[in-house]
Amino acid sequence: MKRILIILFSVSGIATLAQTPIYLNPNAPVEDRVEDALQRMTLEEKVAMTHAQSKFSSSGVPRLGIPENWMSDGPHGVRAEVLWDEWYGANWTNDSCIVFPALTALAATWNPSLAELYGKSIGEEARYRNKNVLLGPGVNIYRTPLNGRNFEYMGEDPFLASAMVVPYVSGVQSNNVAACVKHFALNNQEKYRDYINVTVSERALHEIYLPAFKAAVQQGKAWAIMGSYNRYKQQHCSHNQYLLNDILKKEWNFDGVTVSDWGGVHDTKEAVNNGLDMEFGTWTNGMNFGKSNAYDEYFMAQPYLNLLKNKEASEEQLNDKVRRILRLIFRTNMSSERKYGSFGSPEHAATGRKIAEEGIVLLQNNNNILPIDIEKTKKILVVGENALKSMTVGGGSSSLKAKYEISPLEGIRLRAGDNAEIKYVAGYESPPAKEQDVKDAKEPQYKEIDAEALRNEATAAAQEADIVLFIGGLNKNSGQDCEGDDRISLDLPYEQDALISNLIKANPKTIVIIISGNAVAMPWVNQAPAIIEAWYNGTEAGNALASVLFGDVNPSGKLPFTFPVRLQDNGAHALGDYPGDGENETYKDDIFVGYRWLDKENINPLFAFGHGLSYTTFDYGKAKTDKTKMTAGEQITLSISVKNTGTREGAEVVQLYIHDKKSTLPRPVKELKGFKKILLKADEEQIVTFTIDKNALVYYDDGKGEWIVESGEFEAWIGSSSADIKYKTVFELY
Ligand code: BGC
Repeated sequence: MKRILIILFSVSGIATLAQTPIYLNPNAPVEDRVEDALQRMTLEEKVAMTHAQSKFSSSGVPRLGIPENWMSDGPHGVRAEVLWDEWYGANWTNDSCIVFPALTALAATWNPSLAELYGKSIGEEARYRNKNVLLGPGVNIYRTPLNGRNFEYMGEDPFLASAMVVPYVSGVQSNNVAACVKHFALNNQEKYRDYINVTVSERALHEIYLPAFKAAVQQGKAWAIMGSYNRYKQQHCSHNQYLLNDILKKEWNFDGVTVSDWGGVHDTKEAVNNGLDMEFGTWTNGMNFGKSNAYDEYFMAQPYLNLLKNKEASEEQLNDKVRRILRLIFRTNMSSERKYGSFGSPEHAATGRKIAEEGIVLLQNNNNILPIDIEKTKKILVVGENALKSMTVGGGSSSLKAKYEISPLEGIRLRAGDNAEIKYVAGYESPPAKEQDVKDAKEPQYKEIDAEALRNEATAAAQEADIVLFIGGLNKNSGQDCEGDDRISLDLPYEQDALISNLIKANPKTIVIIISGNAVAMPWVNQAPAIIEAWYNGTEAGNALASVLFGDVNPSGKLPFTFPVRLQDNGAHALGDYPGDGENETYKDDIFVGYRWLDKENINPLFAFGHGLSYTTFDYGKAKTDKTKMTAGEQITLSISVKNTGTREGAEVVQLYIHDKKSTLPRPVKELKGFKKILLKADEEQIVTFTIDKNALVYYDDGKGEWIVESGEFEAWIGSSSADIKYKTVFELY
């Protein structure tokens, strides 16, 4: 605006807005602004925009008043400021954010309107901090429960992940902050992530691994996407011809920017030619330990300029990249609609709490032991390191500096007040870990942990309590739920299984609360009266958990991924292809990921995809369809009544799966194709309606290279989880 005024008054006071350069006119169409700015730029200015100038920023065009791009992790909150060329904190005192629940928790709400609110709120935080790109959300499919980064993603099912990512992206971008959807694509494990070459069928790529990205781009209209570290078709995905040029830009008409993962670029020509627009994280302490402040040496800096000057790269190709970057700036920093944002607000904390409360999953609740009746429960014993451990720090790039974090123990204490005596014993301990986000953090000192003594102390205390709340699971240390590596086993670490078994023996009223972003084995499942999956829930984690435990909130979360009994019950592990040989990995499980594998092999899960209990009960009526036959151009309306048969209000997620009775290529037994979350008062009944069209019936034919729909009989299955199908109805496509 300042610049416009200068122009208006400098030309003898009679200049009109028409003389303002188009790119500075906030009311001009974005494409006109892009073209106008582009034709004013020098080759050097253009190249400068295509690579980082600091750890998280890239150049604008100072001469033209075009601002820099500033990016920040990540999917769960806005990362603390780091130094110009360091991963470590700049020690600002005004960058402590609200930490929202991890994306697994968001996915577990099965509530797209909460995804929109999440996106809107985190976008407001990013905007306030002057970031115009938020490095998230992540939508890589949950293929193995060992993947250290599953907590940052939205589960194993492409339909669910798509339904949740679209509103998240729109919510973020409603603040004129770009969502940068990551990690495109096939980054389904952390082990060997920097160079593993994934071989996967075209069919699995299209049916399982791409849909959430496609939805984010085409329906969510994402303005940025991040390429992944791994390779596909022998090319790194941050500069991959097939993924970035052929699919993303040509087939999906993506008009935003492609951003490399930090240190994901390996070659100038490949990067330039294979669809990369912006390079980040190279050379410095990213993947390649090397010089510092070497931004001019980035693959897309001086080496790119040299190629252009030698006519080995064309300016037209560079212009396409710069157009995309300018578009990003006009959509964000230079948009006339840009808002102010807000940061660390009570409203954002309340949003985080709401999402956490709706995402917590009640896995088991024998004899309605939960919720805790505070009138009858006077002595509560809390056991487990996760009752106290901070879960907002650690885990890699999603690590955050929280404004505050209510631990589970604190939440329980706050809720119980003076009504009960709350005692805490650790029961187990994890080895000390190197501090994240701290410059020159020291290697932790080795410390002997006497697991048996800790266990015995907790077991003795359990005998004295009215109820025991065990709060354990995984954590954000390396080798657990943490970027950079995978877990080594499905089992709970730190001898927690032995502790849980002992606690249950000592006190049968032991509630097991798992905090994790991944499935864990539960050898004690038949002894534990109640089990809760409580995720990484951020700032308000403890309050949200207490609300569910004490029944202020009726749980309504459903699992976004399967809990297998054993690792071998998962396709990638049963077939032995995970983690690959270090160089290559073939996804032999093909389209049979998650529940699709268990269905095919007839394996019972420990807890099924879509499972989650409530403190009330629901009855499903008979499903009705408006017709029993349809053509590919028609749709069928299916309705089913659902009644709350308990005594309190509760929400249920009604799930629609499609079963194809006969097909030319093998298909999963069933696939999620719809869901609705409904809130019902006690005794209330509602009709839930789904429309089924061709899109719910198609599959990808590798041979033909297209989505096809085959006529014949299908079944619509309505369930309360993927393993609890309440009603089936047949229809025909002719
Ligand atoms: C991660 C990205 C992250 C980036 C910047 C990388 O290590 O894979 O998800 O956005 O770092 O912190």
